[in-house]
Amino acid sequence: MSDVSGNQLAKVSKLFEALDEAGRHKLLGLAKKTRHPDGFVICQEGEVGDEFYVLVAGRVRVSADDLGESKEIAVLEKGAFFGEMAVLNHEKRSATVTALGEIELVRFPRAAVDQVLAEYPAAKEMLSKVGVMRSEEALAKLMS
Ligand code: CMP
Repeated sequence: MSDVSGNQLAKVSKLFEALDEAGRHKLLGLAKKTRHPDGFVICQEGEVGDEFYVLVAGRVRVSADDLGESKEIAVLEKGAFFGEMAVLNHEKRSATVTALGEIELVRFPRAAVDQVLAEYPAAKEMLSKVGVMRSEEALAKLMS
């Protein structure tokens, strides 16, 4: 990918600090940068998910179904990553993620993520911990 370097991504997103430059380079070689308008749905709760995302510009809303109504769980800002749960655990998407205004994403296919995380267990552990924490938070929000 030409316009985002490994070092830039490390600055944008903490996660990439757990990789070295070679790991970031490998991952970025398999990534795609995309831009989307306000309201664009990046992933939908209940669907199969095989991509992992880093938000490089803008904000997104994370929401989930609560007895037939969409309930906001979180708002993520530039530098945040999402989509880790379905990719790591081979589960359906746990929430719907929608653009709040214009956004830019870096998208990583599961195969790239699997390959790199196999070599960087610290990054894998961090991602799965965040996933567990987020699902507990989401559950607490939905029960409140
Ligand atoms: P995944 O289940 O693959 O797709 C939806 C994503 O929303 C999920 O991965 C997380 O990245 C994100 N998500 C779910 N719950 C929360 C939460 N409580 N806070 C922030 N992000 C969340």
